[in-house]
Amino acid sequence: MRIAVLVSGRGSNLRALAEAIGDHRCAGAIVGVVADRPGCDALAFAAKRGIPTSVVRPQDFDDRERWDAALADAIAAFDAEWVVLAGFLRIVGPEVLARFGGRIVNVHPALLPSFPGLHAPRQAIDAGATVAGCTVHLVDAGVDTGPILAQGVLPIRSDDDETTLHARIQRLEHRLLPAVVDALVTGRSPRMALLMGD
Ligand code: GRF
Repeated sequence: MRIAVLVSGRGSNLRALAEAIGDHRCAGAIVGVVADRPGCDALAFAAKRGIPTSVVRPQDFDDRERWDAALADAIAAFDAEWVVLAGFLRIVGPEVLARFGGRIVNVHPALLPSFPGLHAPRQAIDAGATVAGCTVHLVDAGVDTGPILAQGVLPIRSDDDETTLHARIQRLEHRLLPAVVDALVTGRSPRMALLMGD
């Protein structure tokens, strides 16, 4: 199965997925990486690995619809069958959903439906939550609203701040996302919970 990964930043989830595929812990192949900005670490990682990349910047298009159509074309150019949003900090539009809907997954650093949107770990701390985690879900037109596939859970420590909590959540993401992608591309149920005690 051909997988396109959409990124905006650091790319640690892209790296985790690539390593899992390299170690045969996850089936499929990353056939392309699409970013909404040039120069991000995720693109550098892809280039180093020899994974084809493309950049589709919103500011290069007259409006959101044209950007959305170009993004769909960029994904299609890789012949992708599955699309993984791994730290892609934009909402995909109707054209991408029309062409790839039901085959797009996102990883979010909170136990959805709580704390969608930006700064989810900080939102969890500010709300006084005692557990946090990550969610892999199918993407729909909303912000972090699509059907939940799998979640990882961990406790919030009394001395956690946004940085420390997000770092531990990311370690969990790096296990959960490849496990879910493996299930999806091999046609198994991706529904799972990953419980982690630290
Ligand atoms: C992750 O925490 C993910 O949940 C969120 O953005 C972050 C991306 O991190 N959507 P990275 O770029 O994969 O390191």
